[in-house]
Amino acid sequence: MLEVSGISAFYGKHRALDGVSLNVERGEIVVILGANGAGKTTLLNAVAGVVHAEPGARIAISGKDSAVRELSGMPAHAIVEAGIALVPEGRGIFGELTVRENLLLGAYPPRARANEAANLDMVLGLFPRLQERLKQTVRTMSGGEQQMVAIGRALMSAPDVLLLDEPSLGLSPIMCGELFHILARIRQSGLGILLVEQNARQSLAIADRGYIIANGRIVGSGTAEALKTDPAVQRAYLGAGEVKA
Ligand SMILES: Nc1ncnc2c1ncn2[C@@H]1O[C@H](COP(=O)(O)OP(=O)(O)O)[C@@H](O)[C@H]1O
Ligand SMILES: [Mg+2]
Repeated sequence: MLEVSGISAFYGKHRALDGVSLNVERGEIVVILGANGAGKTTLLNAVAGVVHAEPGARIAISGKDSAVRELSGMPAHAIVEAGIALVPEGRGIFGELTVRENLLLGAYPPRARANEAANLDMVLGLFPRLQERLKQTVRTMSGGEQQMVAIGRALMSAPDVLLLDEPSLGLSPIMCGELFHILARIRQSGLGILLVEQNARQSLAIADRGYIIANGRIVGSGTAEALKTDPAVQRAYLGAGEVKA
């Protein structure tokens, strides 16, 4: 569904991404694991058109209508319109607005406007907690609730692929569990999810496949099962010895 190949990106002379290729299929959760500074955020931002990728990359999506759309070089709003929604690092929501206002902002892309009411119902079905708090100012909510608003807003654009940049960062263990449970439910509706996470254990528990990124390059990939039992992954991301394979 999402096909990315040969993405490179620079900040000045610093090469943050070096020819990264990956794919995400319908109904699949794909996790990207990597140390701080490995290039995970740059990768999601380059796919979303927020960061400039070098010419020569291919980013293509085939949505529900099966038509293939080539997205490299397109502006961010065109990428949203093609069916890719980013939940950025730090969430990118508007603290002074209410839950309802934030969610409705997500329905702004033309692809989503006609189904705004149905999409809102879908989001509130996933996040009943938001239903009770539609009029609450987002700034006054907990981190976990704010993350739900951010994900809900992205879903309001009716995406085919959801990109999530460290959604569990700063959440309590209970909230993390709830969040990952919700991602698994979102997958059931047929979306593809590309998830950047520091929480390797919980993300591999719900993911179908994963990639390891280091210094801007993909250095490993495999099924979530294979990655969980890979000694290098265990050492670097799971705390070797603690893992029950
Ligand atoms: N806006 C920026 N300007 C300059 N360098 C940046 C910028 N953003 C990220 N970098 C650098 O690019 C590399 C990749 O960063 P990033 O994609 O944020 O990594 P990650 O999300 O994996 O922690 C790092 O070396 C980081 O310091
Ligand atoms: Mg990051």
